[in-house]
Amino acid sequence: MLLIHKLTKRFGPDLSSAPIFENLDFTLNTGEYIALMGESGAGKSTLLNIIAGLEPATNGEIRLAGQLLNAANQPHDDDRVTLFRRQKIGFVFQAFHLLPYLNVFENIALPLRLNNWAAAEIKTRVQEMLASVGLDEKTAALPRELSGGEMQRVAIARALAHRPQLLLADEPTGNLDPDTAAQIMALLRIEIQRNGTTAILVTHSEIAARSADRAVELSKRGLLPRHYG
Ligand SMILES: Nc1ncnc2c1ncn2[C@@H]1O[C@H](COP(=O)(O)OP(=O)(O)OP(=O)(O)O)[C@@H](O)[C@H]1O
Ligand SMILES: [Mg+2]
Repeated sequence: MLLIHKLTKRFGPDLSSAPIFENLDFTLNTGEYIALMGESGAGKSTLLNIIAGLEPATNGEIRLAGQLLNAANQPHDDDRVTLFRRQKIGFVFQAFHLLPYLNVFENIALPLRLNNWAAAEIKTRVQEMLASVGLDEKTAALPRELSGGEMQRVAIARALAHRPQLLLADEPTGNLDPDTAAQIMALLRIEIQRNGTTAILVTHSEIAARSADRAVELSKRGLLPRHYG
């Protein structure tokens, strides 16, 4: 379960600046898949980045499976929190963010290496993920030799390889054509279910949002359920 409690974010050193969001409260149940929507600039990426530890929170708490994720007020716990995140969270970005000098196999193996998996286990798991996203034939390819859709399939395989509890996806189909985007959304849904992962999908697309269990909207009023007309 992911618990967000009284989460506030302000940018810059001036703490009197207007908050991007303030006192957000939110609970995401284990295994749930939600779409996070909201206007451009609402703070969706900021929220994901805070959960992922790429950005500090100004105030408030985030807990995953009871463990405090944001160490803003606990500087001495930073290493432990970093390790925890590395094991428990996977991230898919709009711009793929594959490492250009690593081939497909090594890109997917990266989180496993960072989590000190044994070589034999890495090989088995990467091959499993490659088969699962339909890229068996591309094991040795470099990212620049792939199409956008293929790159995002590698990124999905990489994000889920280490069996994270939580997957964060920030507009993962924003750089893809509509047909490829629909394929990636379907694949993401299948992979999330197969791996039993809790997931947050940031999207501007109503169609993509409908593939999630429920949708919420981030606005000045907070994080509220979004209903379809
Ligand atoms: N590093 C930063 N420093 C200062 N302000 C920032 C920084 N990053 C984001 N912001 C501001 O925070 C607000 C929220 O940005 P964010 O990228 O989270 O929005 P978003 O909801 O993801 O938008 P989009 O749908 O366009 O991706 C914006 O007003 C943005 O200008
Ligand atoms: Mg964004």
